[in-house]
Amino acid sequence: MLASRVMTLEKTDFYPDLFSAGDKIYFDHNATAPLCRKIVSSAPELLEAFGNPSSIHQFGRRPKKIIRDARNQFAKFIDCHPLELIFTSGGSESNSLVLKSEFLRAKKAGIKNPHFVVSKIEHPASIKSIEQLKELGLKVSWIEVDRNGQVDFSQYQSLFQEPVHLVSCMLANNETGCILPIKEMCQFAKSQGAKFHTDAVQALGKMEFSLKELDVDYASFAGHKFYAMKGVGALFSKQGNVIENLISGGGQERSRRGGTENTLGIASMGIVAEFFPQQKSYIEYVRTLRDSLEEKLVSRISNLEILGRETNRVCNTSSVFIQGVDGESLLMNLDLAGIAVSTGAACSSGNPEPSPVLIAMGLSHAEAQSSMRVSLGWGSTMAEVDRFIEELEKVVIRLRAIKENGGEL
Ligand SMILES: Cc1ncc(COP(=O)(O)O)c(C=O)c1O
Repeated sequence: MLASRVMTLEKTDFYPDLFSAGDKIYFDHNATAPLCRKIVSSAPELLEAFGNPSSIHQFGRRPKKIIRDARNQFAKFIDCHPLELIFTSGGSESNSLVLKSEFLRAKKAGIKNPHFVVSKIEHPASIKSIEQLKELGLKVSWIEVDRNGQVDFSQYQSLFQEPVHLVSCMLANNETGCILPIKEMCQFAKSQGAKFHTDAVQALGKMEFSLKELDVDYASFAGHKFYAMKGVGALFSKQGNVIENLISGGGQERSRRGGTENTLGIASMGIVAEFFPQQKSYIEYVRTLRDSLEEKLVSRISNLEILGRETNRVCNTSSVFIQGVDGESLLMNLDLAGIAVSTGAACSSGNPEPSPVLIAMGLSHAEAQSSMRVSLGWGSTMAEVDRFIEELEKVVIRLRAIKENGGEL
């Protein structure tokens, strides 16, 4: 039923008006999503409220209200109390803030070597924060994942042989879209007296979830991954938790994050949150497109594997391994045809090292280097899926022929 609706559906039938890629195909939504146009049409009025939200005169009251409204709207859709949100500059800051804050809390409580349990497939913002903290005495135990991007629960439980202060594990992986069993992992962590942080940056708008149900202590979000602006995000910090600020300042965000607020950015998160009541249908729509894309990939291209296909994944992501084809060459050839995909995390493109996430999942270096990530969005269409498959088929045939001829065409 939905599939036939999808075939005839125009992007604008029930979707928020997003910036489009024109006659090009943008299948890299996990790197960043196009902006919702309502943000642009609302911007002049929002920017007119130029006062400092901390000022108590009337110039401060308007931006203060804009921030309060956005906080309420965003909190409603992730199911938390508005004051449990700390607005930040994005996912990287939210992850760094919670990891460093919890380390400091543990140190202040007299723990010499605080012990964190962290998954091997976290975003570099988390992994690099952990590396910094290790130099200051942090002890880390790593959660392993298998080729389907899934956690082995008994390996996870075995990491609690000594007291754990904090667990950090993402809700959905940016490269494979695999969803991790956060509710169960969090329940276990709590039974062992540990706190739990989840990086939910890639989950929002791609799967339904409620923070209350997950029952985590902390969760990270980034505006630009769900059609709001870049350079803005949020950290959910459950009531009762204390955050040690990384940016000291004038007491903004209840002294948990100093600095005059990014009023327009924060407002953009509230504007997109208005569309979230419809997100169930967006998710179903995108999933139908993605599933159709994968069926076509498997039937039209030989020696191709979709990583984590049999597991629980967000609606939009396909991580594709194509034997005998170099991922970077694939990306460049598709780019010439006007199609944007990615070979891993966007922040590591141009880096010849294979994706650490794919390596953690057990792929060899050669396999990881023959992989690409296709990530669709609320504005993608079936016509784009079909054009993508046609172009990809041509590129794969060409690249395999070049390889067989020892690099000559
Ligand atoms: C899972 C995940 N966490 C965090 C981030 C960082 O977010 P930001 O770009 O807002 O700093 C990203 C961005 O790719 C991500 O995919």
